[in-house]
Amino acid sequence: MTRLRKAGRLWRNWQAQAAALEVLVNADDTQPVFKVELERWFGRSAPLEVELGAGKGEFIIEQARTFPNRNFLAVELPLSIVRLLCARVARSGLGNLKVLRADARSLVGFLMPSESVDVYHIYYPDPWPKARHAKHRLFSPNFVAGLARTLKEGGILCVASDVEQWALQIFESLRQGGFEPQIQPVVGATKTGYGKKYLAEKRTIFACAFKRPTLKELSKHTPSGANESAAMLQAMDRLPD
Ligand SMILES: C[S@@+](CC[C@H](N)C(=O)[O-])C[C@H]1O[C@@H](n2cnc3c(N)ncnc32)[C@H](O)[C@@H]1O
Repeated sequence: MTRLRKAGRLWRNWQAQAAALEVLVNADDTQPVFKVELERWFGRSAPLEVELGAGKGEFIIEQARTFPNRNFLAVELPLSIVRLLCARVARSGLGNLKVLRADARSLVGFLMPSESVDVYHIYYPDPWPKARHAKHRLFSPNFVAGLARTLKEGGILCVASDVEQWALQIFESLRQGGFEPQIQPVVGATKTGYGKKYLAEKRTIFACAFKRPTLKELSKHTPSGANESAAMLQAMDRLPD
């Protein structure tokens, strides 16, 4: 509720709104369908880091400031969070960070070009523990296959959760998808809004970095659902306009 009120107040300030809209990725109106156009959005080609479910952007803003030679994309879904995120990104004045309002699952599954991402960051994805809410979960075999498809060779996924069971489930689904756990720090685990809060509360954080499977490994791990989706997309490509 507080978030909604804050987002509403902020959006009524037309100057803040105009600045925030500058960092929000817009669809190209001349195109019939939405397309991810990284070079157009950033005005340059550079290594890309994507945070899925970036919240208010505490981590990705700091990361984009630290690495000006990289491009950063912060993805969020609810409008109120997107507005707060855009306002913060606009205030940072960073030209290498954009905000995209999208469902991370469609983005990773269908929209993001293959082998376009250097690093994915996913911190504290909602666990949705009740079976009837499972449809909202981010991680599934198809989502993992999408991460593997869209990461570049050698690309890294950093993931963290404060819920042990959910973290183990995520790590296992990644291993099953051919991802290799790495011995390296998970940069955002204690730097996002939730990460900082959990660190202050001295809560246990379950975090791991994973490397994208090689092409040979990928062919072994593609779930049948992902093949069906690819076939469906190819069939749609053949439909008349
Ligand atoms: C628990 S919060 C964590 C936020 C941030 N990563 C952090 O650590 O502070 C989970 C975030 O994921 C976003 N989210 C959930 N499902 C999503 C989806 N399908 N696509 C994009 N964002 C999503 C929520 O809006 C929320 O901001």
